[in-house]
Amino acid sequence: MIQDHDQDQGPGSDRLAHARSARGERPTTTLITTKAELRAARAALGGTVAAVFTMGALHGGHLALVRRAREIADHVILTDFVNPLQFGPGEDYAAYPRPLAEDLALVDGLVDLVFAPSVEEMYPVLPPTVSVSAGRAGRVLEGAARPGHFDGVVTVVAKLLHLTAPDVTVFGRKDAQQLAIIGRLTADLDLPVRIEPVEIQREPTGLARSSRNVYLTAAGREQALALSRTIAAAQAAAPSVAAIRAALERALARAEIDWAYALALDPATLEEIAEDHRGEVLVTLAGRVEGTRLLDAAVVEATAP
Ligand code: PAF
Repeated sequence: MIQDHDQDQGPGSDRLAHARSARGERPTTTLITTKAELRAARAALGGTVAAVFTMGALHGGHLALVRRAREIADHVILTDFVNPLQFGPGEDYAAYPRPLAEDLALVDGLVDLVFAPSVEEMYPVLPPTVSVSAGRAGRVLEGAARPGHFDGVVTVVAKLLHLTAPDVTVFGRKDAQQLAIIGRLTADLDLPVRIEPVEIQREPTGLARSSRNVYLTAAGREQALALSRTIAAAQAAAPSVAAIRAALERALARAEIDWAYALALDPATLEEIAEDHRGEVLVTLAGRVEGTRLLDAAVVEATAP
């Protein structure tokens, strides 16, 4: 049952929660809407804390992040906030779903705190006078199609990291560019938090799980499998960068979907890599099916010329 933050849990409740978490028991989930309450509740958590940042409308992909967070920390804070800064003019900010009651029911007993602030609470001044820039990495790939999007993402993530002060934060690998940019945010600004990437959740067909899949017809879902088939082809083509690129070029040439890009890049910087590169390679794909932009990605190891 969701608890109001004001309700006194009594002395020693921290130790109790910690012991419960160690025994795999379910935490009491508390809904919090202000920064002051969040800071107080965070300070009262003993042990390690994992943060899961979301814009709500939770689905199985988010629950996989929550499960991983529960495995690697004593306590979990989930944030549920539709961030206006990361939507461009003409994008679906107003229409974006905000089913807070359903979200709370989904994570009840799985996380310790849900932070769901209003826009005014998060941004007393909007747009904020000072914000964070994602730099070049924010202007390529998805950022080229959505100018300013990643600046909005890193600004809210920087705020949420300060507010939740987690030991570790969990991000999905499907949004590979977001993961890379948040890696740069924490490294470049020396933010003391570890980032835990979580593998893409797939449907039995191989299609990467995404809230956007609901826009696809049965035929569109079939067509969208070109993405996961291309990932599989790139994985099979490893270990050489040239062979991975050849597999991606074959997929682009087949034009089964309206491709935006299919690239092999450096996973940390999103820069092009040389053909003789050894180490991790990010294979990142985007394409449009029935008017919906879909993403897929994988990190593969290049070990041979
Ligand atoms: O991935 C998302 O849902 C959002 O970009 C995030 C990280 C919660 C920031 O608003």
